[in-house]
Amino acid sequence: MPSTLPEGDPVPADGSLPAQASAGLSDRSLSFYLHVPFCATRCGYCDFNTYTAGELGSAASAQSWLDAALDEVDLAAKVLAATGEHRPVSTVFVGGGTPSLVGADALTRLLGAVRDRFGLIQGAEVSTEANPESTDPALLAALREAGYTRLSLGLQSVSARVLQVLDRTHTAGRALQVVGWARAAGFEHVNLDLIYGTPGESDDEFADSLAAAVHSGVDHVSAYSLIVEPGTRLARQVRSGLLPMPDEDVLADRYLLADAALTGAGLSWYEVSNWARDAAARCRHNLAYWTGGDWWGIGPGAHSHVGGVRWWNVKHPAAYAAALAASRSPGHARETLDDDARRLEEILLRLRLADGLEVALLTPQGLATAASSAADGLLDQDRLRDGRAVLTLRGRLLADGIALRLTE
Ligand SMILES: C[S@@+](CC[C@H](N)C(=O)[O-])C[C@H]1O[C@@H](n2cnc3c(N)ncnc32)[C@H](O)[C@@H]1O
Ligand code: SF4
Repeated sequence: MPSTLPEGDPVPADGSLPAQASAGLSDRSLSFYLHVPFCATRCGYCDFNTYTAGELGSAASAQSWLDAALDEVDLAAKVLAATGEHRPVSTVFVGGGTPSLVGADALTRLLGAVRDRFGLIQGAEVSTEANPESTDPALLAALREAGYTRLSLGLQSVSARVLQVLDRTHTAGRALQVVGWARAAGFEHVNLDLIYGTPGESDDEFADSLAAAVHSGVDHVSAYSLIVEPGTRLARQVRSGLLPMPDEDVLADRYLLADAALTGAGLSWYEVSNWARDAAARCRHNLAYWTGGDWWGIGPGAHSHVGGVRWWNVKHPAAYAAALAASRSPGHARETLDDDARRLEEILLRLRLADGLEVALLTPQGLATAASSAADGLLDQDRLRDGRAVLTLRGRLLADGIALRLTE
């Protein structure tokens, strides 16, 4: 079962935002994240807020979730209209869970609701995640027709052994076939997710996965190290000694392998775990998260951020549907970041970007840390002289630790 939610200040029943959220709205982009909380089966390593049919029973259904999600789009329109500003939406991202499981009609209706209530900017990025086993050419054609522009697929690995340890139900061949179908359907941008460091994975298996991703011709690759999340089946297998914990040195070597293979194939890093063919192939939705954009997260457990006000929805699909059916905000709690908290968050997120962060954000102590990190080869000396803290390749291996020290 997904872990519990953090606490915070209460969210008013009408979902209205504090005055702070309205300041400077027109300077920020608006995005929507739409969360699909269903999976056919649960992968043992994953603690995302998603449920199998067996876990849900009769408590909630795809229909009750869709009705509630459409109601939440209406709520978002009301709440944001009250800020006095109308902004068309720059990016939409449908994630999960398994969006491909709910089918084209539901995904078309969700996007249609956002478009009707807010409008989309010219050239908006509209992404959906999809699992290879529940994606076929008819689904992809319908999604293109509906206005989706970008597909994000979980290849994870080409090794059948690794896919089995991860409990993935697709074959590598199927995932690569879906890439071909996506291109034939006219998707402008396609991403493949890879995982490295799965217990038992060899360097060669990861190299093969990278080669397959490159060879598929996608314009974006995300490569994540396997995180052993507390409470998952994987964590229990590691605790009981059935599987070894991913080794830090192995993870670092795999990251270097990923960067060499992807860079060699013409994809450049733009965030520590993300590589893209060119600027147009970068995921603008994720960039909005990382650069302080506003986004409204629709769906159970979804998080939102508007002008330094963050809130998160109740997690269970039944509680989520019940709140909206009673015309109440599904927000579980919220927090309002003060200037210092916003500065710290900006440092943590921006340091992970290839563009780095302006050193003006750092305190004198943070500046001294930046200088010593550059002397240690973790930050780029030339960029630092130009006023930006930008990670070197070695620095990327230690990104979060360096970012934390820069916040001092
Ligand atoms: C939560 S899934 C949602 C999309 C889709 N169901 C899928 O699995 O591709 C998004 C990505 O997060 C990755 N992920 C989930 N749990 C993870 C973990 N513990 N460590 C690393 N990556 C993880 C998945 O492998 C997947 O690529
Ligand atoms: S399919 Fe994706 S979201 Fe579902 S359990 Fe597996 S990793 Fe998590």
